[in-house]
Amino acid sequence: MPTLDDLKAKNAAWSRAKTAVDPDFFTRLERQQSPEYLWIGCSDSRVPANEIVGLDPGELFVHRNVANLAPPQDANYLSVLQFAVDVLKVKHVMVVGHYGCGGVAASVDGVRRGLVDHWLHPIREVYEAHRTELEALPAGRQRTDRLCELNVERQVRNVAADIFVQDAWARGQQLSVHGWVYSLHNGRITDLGVTIDGPEGYAALVARDA
Ligand code: CO
Repeated sequence: MPTLDDLKAKNAAWSRAKTAVDPDFFTRLERQQSPEYLWIGCSDSRVPANEIVGLDPGELFVHRNVANLAPPQDANYLSVLQFAVDVLKVKHVMVVGHYGCGGVAASVDGVRRGLVDHWLHPIREVYEAHRTELEALPAGRQRTDRLCELNVERQVRNVAADIFVQDAWARGQQLSVHGWVYSLHNGRITDLGVTIDGPEGYAALVARDA
């Protein structure tokens, strides 16, 4: 297990390596960031946003929480979303779940853990909405992984429904919301094909789920 001194030494080496290939790297980033992407992902340590998609500092705006939720009453998520859309003007928001998500599994296992059970409540609602499909799958990994996908779809819908996003589209701003799932098994991302890039797409999704 690395010590804190190890981490500081690694940081110094990383900083030196960055400036060795690009001497202006930090001075340029210090002036401004202009990321084109907002990543909404799980806090899980095995899903490090920038590393997975090979992006440098400055290229990815990141919001992470347990089970990659986009709850419409969460001030933290909403502040990140508004800043990303209104100020940074990101072109893509990706909600990124991951198979084997402990948060998703914990939402429906019936074990009481405290505050996090309330945080995970929206996933229980997703489960209820898709109970027939989910319970047709074998209990365990297969069912939980499908719930991970359905949760991502639901959070994509939440992001697309948000007034910051709706207003951006009304202004003619280019903005797409995507649903991805990451595999801990092989490190690969799967695009769930639920991209919404305007009010028509959102309306179609609402009609489909009605
Ligand atoms: Co997770």
